[in-house]
Amino acid sequence: DEAIRVSDMAHQMGVKAQSVIKVLLGLGVMATINQSLDFDTAGLVASEFGYEVEKVGFSEDAYIAPREEDSPETMKSRPPVVTIMGHVDHGKTSLLDAIRESNITGGEAGGITQHIGAYHVPTPRGEVVFLDTPGHEAFTAMRARGAQVTDIVVLVVAADDGVMDQTREAVNHSRAAGVPIVVAVNKMDKEGADPDRVKRELADLGLLPEDWGGETIYGHVSAKEHTGLDELLEMIILQAEVLELKANPDKPARGHIVEARLDKGRGAVATVLIQEGTLRQGDPFVCGLFSGRVRAMFNDKGEKVDAAGPSIPVEVQGFEGVPEAGDEFVGVEDDKVARRIAEARQLKQREKELAKESKITLETFLAKK
Ligand code: GTP
Ligand code: MG
Repeated sequence: DEAIRVSDMAHQMGVKAQSVIKVLLGLGVMATINQSLDFDTAGLVASEFGYEVEKVGFSEDAYIAPREEDSPETMKSRPPVVTIMGHVDHGKTSLLDAIRESNITGGEAGGITQHIGAYHVPTPRGEVVFLDTPGHEAFTAMRARGAQVTDIVVLVVAADDGVMDQTREAVNHSRAAGVPIVVAVNKMDKEGADPDRVKRELADLGLLPEDWGGETIYGHVSAKEHTGLDELLEMIILQAEVLELKANPDKPARGHIVEARLDKGRGAVATVLIQEGTLRQGDPFVCGLFSGRVRAMFNDKGEKVDAAGPSIPVEVQGFEGVPEAGDEFVGVEDDKVARRIAEARQLKQREKELAKESKITLETFLAKK
């Protein structure tokens, strides 16, 4: 199973691949530059050049810079990433649409149909990045892997419906992730809207409102009538300022997949939320099981962009395969490295699947007895 490519081996020894091929010929092995050599053959070749071959497991660490602490002077302010959560039909998407509409200037209004699952909204006090419902899935997937993408959760609760199953679920998720919650009591325009009931129910879950002596910020909004939106945005920004969010933009990009799909014309495309560093057109990367190179990037308005820094969501084209929501996205030095890492991950994945299959076979066999 351990193998090394002729070209990689030549590179590691600092000789021409042709020289390695010549030595192989001398050993009676016809090889091309891309051919993989097994351990024993590699050992014979290496000794011809005065080297020894050592068996080491493939480690990504040699290729992906470890996540080290950035020194304080490299850290720059970044926009908050806000995930909208809440029970079905309580108005998450409507609220996000309303916030975007009222904060996007006339000329751009026609362009807001682009759906990339993540949006940035300019405000007088800086940008705010929102993750839509698909972001909810990514949020869950990422939390399961111990990664975190969101800084603040806006919990949407319909004023006429109150706390429901998925409201509780969202509270639990946010708590487990240690993410502060801002409550948006929505549908205030409806008859039967009872914001105090929502507050009571949420207070029971530990989200005691500020005006009741607690620490949770509540906003009263109507996504339908566009009321209370500026106040809500203000509350989100206040909450974000307390968090003092920063990241180093001057290094290879790292981020997570918010959503991904196979596009008929454009191949695999994915919305990547950049969390640190900067992603640029042409950058090679690894993501989940796949490598790629940024062929094109688009913002949430469908406009082409050349670079994306911390907290910015971009739709990226150039994946070798469709990644999964929640997959980590890592910019790397060059294409070869990206492919090498992806190959190693796919191999590992296949081994895992094989192991699973053989286990199932055994269990079936035992069950039959
Ligand atoms: P899912 O994505 O299915 O979980 O739903 P959602 O939370 O995104 O809710 P969505 O925005 O799709 O809204 C659900 C329904 O509530 C729609 O019919 C909206 O028109 C309606 N709605 C949303 N906000 C308001 C509001 O402020 N007032 C009123 N009256 N209706 C609203
Ligand atoms: Mg929705």
